[in-house]
Amino acid sequence: QANERESMYLVSEFAQKYFVETLWETEPGKAIGLTYFKERGFSDATIKKFGLGYSLDQWEAFTKAALEKSYQLEFLDKTGLTIVKEQTDGTSKKFDRFKGRVMFPIHSMSGRVLGFGGRILTNDKKAAKYLNSPESEIYHKSKVLYGIYFAKQAIAKEDNCYLVEGYTDVIQMHQKGVENVVSSSGTSLTPEQIRLINRLTKNITVLFDGDAAGLRASLRGIDLILEQGMNVKVCTFPEGEDPDSFAKNNTYEDLALYLEENAKDFIQFKTSLLAQEAANDPIKRADTIRDIVNSISKIPDRIKKEVYIQECAKLLQISEEVLYNTLAQIDKKDR
Ligand code: CTP
Ligand code: MN
Ligand code: MN
Ligand code: MN
Ligand code: MN
Repeated sequence: QANERESMYLVSEFAQKYFVETLWETEPGKAIGLTYFKERGFSDATIKKFGLGYSLDQWEAFTKAALEKSYQLEFLDKTGLTIVKEQTDGTSKKFDRFKGRVMFPIHSMSGRVLGFGGRILTNDKKAAKYLNSPESEIYHKSKVLYGIYFAKQAIAKEDNCYLVEGYTDVIQMHQKGVENVVSSSGTSLTPEQIRLINRLTKNITVLFDGDAAGLRASLRGIDLILEQGMNVKVCTFPEGEDPDSFAKNNTYEDLALYLEENAKDFIQFKTSLLAQEAANDPIKRADTIRDIVNSISKIPDRIKKEVYIQECAKLLQISEEVLYNTLAQIDKKDR
């Protein structure tokens, strides 16, 4: 099994280098891939640092190159870099999974290439915008954070980690000078991902795209961060903006100031948001109170818990006693 994994790492490393070479040294790579990244505002240094690449718009350019270098089809298949389709006549067809996409390699904490995200360049609504490596022996999407290898030192130094939605958010913020940033790459946050951050800092600031889609659903995932005893702030961006576009269109100073001024304590943020929504609806209000106290119940530290209860009582205009009773009910159910 160890050998199998090592073979998968090696073929992934080859792929990463091949996609980089394709980006910088082939005509389509330069004309399509490099132009795309430059239009997004990425500098040469940034493109190189993150190992961004291009996969030719041909059925099996990459697969052929890998086989020529004696990488085995078995591992191309297992990493998902090549899609192998068995035909009814016993033969098989091979093609490149990431055909015609710009490539974002996904690194482990120690810098090994585990998998890829590939973005289409057209605005074709039929194809998925991003295609990612499938789950494999080396790529477990619930256990990786995009950008962690490039961010780990800054996370420890700043004693804070920004958590964003996407690949380009990480890259653009990094380029602007905010290097303590990682992404869960569109999936909901998992305990394993939080543990990776927890080793480096106890402070997370979650940055949401300004599209409100799934804001409430995402808030639920944040309870997992509280459960690990971490401090959580959240920050939203103006309608239609995400950290990528905001960082691209602003100076480092503007970005830093925006984050500084708009990062709010998670419990306070959630309480204000839900309280607004439920203002005139008694049933909703009851649900809201339970929802918030449920978040508070996840905090391991008792003193912090009490501080939040007191604060939420004020924000929700409700007695502390009611909140403590709700907390006791939830704690009982959890046991
Ligand atoms: N994502 C994905 N598959 C999709 C759409 C999104 O895996 N079809 C993941 C990607 O990791 C993406 C993240 O979810 O980076 C956030 O999605 P979104 O905000 O839609 O994309 P952006 O990162 O803003 O990408 P871009 O700016 O390139 O449009
Ligand atoms: Mn495994
Ligand atoms: Mn989004
Ligand atoms: Mn986005
Ligand atoms: Mn974006």
